[in-house]
Amino acid sequence: MKSLESYQSCVNDALVARLQQKNFDEPAGLYEPCKYILQNGGKRVRASLVLLASKMFSGSFEKALSVALAFETFHNFTLIHDDIMDKASIRRGIPTVHIKWDENTAILSGDAVMIIAYRFFEEAGENVMKLFPLLNKTALEVCEGQQYDIDLEKAALQDALVTESVYLKMIELKTSVLLAACLKAGSIVGGANEVDAQKMYEIGRLLGVAFQLQDDVLDTYGNEKTFGKKIGGDIRVNKKTYLLIKALETLQGEDKKQLSSLMSETAGNENDKFNAVVSLYNKADVKGQTVALIKEYFVKAKTLVDEIAVPETQKQELRLFMDELLNREY
Ligand code: IPE
Ligand code: IPE
Ligand code: MG
Ligand code: MG
Ligand code: MG
Repeated sequence: MKSLESYQSCVNDALVARLQQKNFDEPAGLYEPCKYILQNGGKRVRASLVLLASKMFSGSFEKALSVALAFETFHNFTLIHDDIMDKASIRRGIPTVHIKWDENTAILSGDAVMIIAYRFFEEAGENVMKLFPLLNKTALEVCEGQQYDIDLEKAALQDALVTESVYLKMIELKTSVLLAACLKAGSIVGGANEVDAQKMYEIGRLLGVAFQLQDDVLDTYGNEKTFGKKIGGDIRVNKKTYLLIKALETLQGEDKKQLSSLMSETAGNENDKFNAVVSLYNKADVKGQTVALIKEYFVKAKTLVDEIAVPETQKQELRLFMDELLNREY
C-alpha cells in the first residue's frame, strides 16, 4: 500500500502537531476522547484525496494541508456518532469512544471534533470562502445519508424503501459525497478550473460508492484483525446493505423466507444468526455480485481520470491510490 501509506504517515504527523499546537487539553474529559479518535489510526483516505488532488494540479502541499486535515477531522467526527448509532464496540482495533467512555462523552466529544474540523478549515487562507459552501453542503448531505441509513435499518424488508436505488442513494450521501468533496476541494486548492474540479468531484463520487460497497463486503467477509471492526455488525443490526438486497432478489422459496425472518430479528443468538445469514449470502453469491458492481464503479472512475486536463504523469498517483483502495482488506 505504497501511496496510501506514505500519505497516511504524513497526515498522522501533521495532525498530531496541529493538535498539540492548539492546546486542546482542558477539560480532559472532552479532549481526551477527541485525541483518541484522531490519533489512533485510520487510513486517512479523505486527507490523502485532498493532498493528492492538489498535487495533481501542481498546488502546494502546505496550502492543501489545512483543508485535508479539516475533511479528515470531519470524517472522524462522523465515526464517533456513527458508532453510537450502529452500536459498534470496536473501531481501528480498539474500543469505540462510547464504549471506552460513555454515550454522553461520545456525543459531546463528537461535537467537539466537528468544530475542530472547522478550526483547521479556518487556516485554509484564501481558499476558506471558496470551499466553505462545499464543506457545508457535504456535511449536511452526510447527515441526510446517515438518516436514510437509520430509516432503512428500521424499515421492514417488504417496505417500499428497501430497494437497490434507495440503498445507492443512501451510500452516495453518507459516504461518497465526502470523498467527492475532498477531490474537488484539493483540485480547487491546486488551481484546477471549474470543469476539471467538477470531474474530480464525479471521480470521487464513483470511488466513494465503490468504497462503501467494499466496506459492506468487508463487514461480512473481512478479517477482524485487518479490518479493525467487529465482523457481522451490519447483519447484527439488520442493515439493509447491498448484500442483503441482492440476496433477497436472488433467493427463492424457503431460503428467501428464512433470510427475511433472520434479518428481521432483534434478539436471539448473534453467532447463529451471522452463520445462517452468511450461508444464505454464499448460496446467492452476493459477494461475487457486489464485487462485480464495485469493479464497475472503479472502471467508471478510472475512465474519468483520462479526461482530466493535466499531463498523464501527474495522474499516476491518483490511479495508484485507486488501485490500492480497490485491493484493500482494511
Ligand atoms: C469508515 O471509513 C466509514 C465509511 C465510510 C465506510 P474508513 O474506512 O475510511 O475509516 P478509517 O478512517 O480508515 O478508519
Ligand atoms: C459510515 O457507514 C458512514 C459514516 C460514518 C458517515 P458505516 O456505518 O458502514 O461505517 P463503519 O462500517 O461503521 O465504519
Ligand atoms: Mg453507519
Ligand atoms: Mg458504522
Ligand atoms: Mg460499515
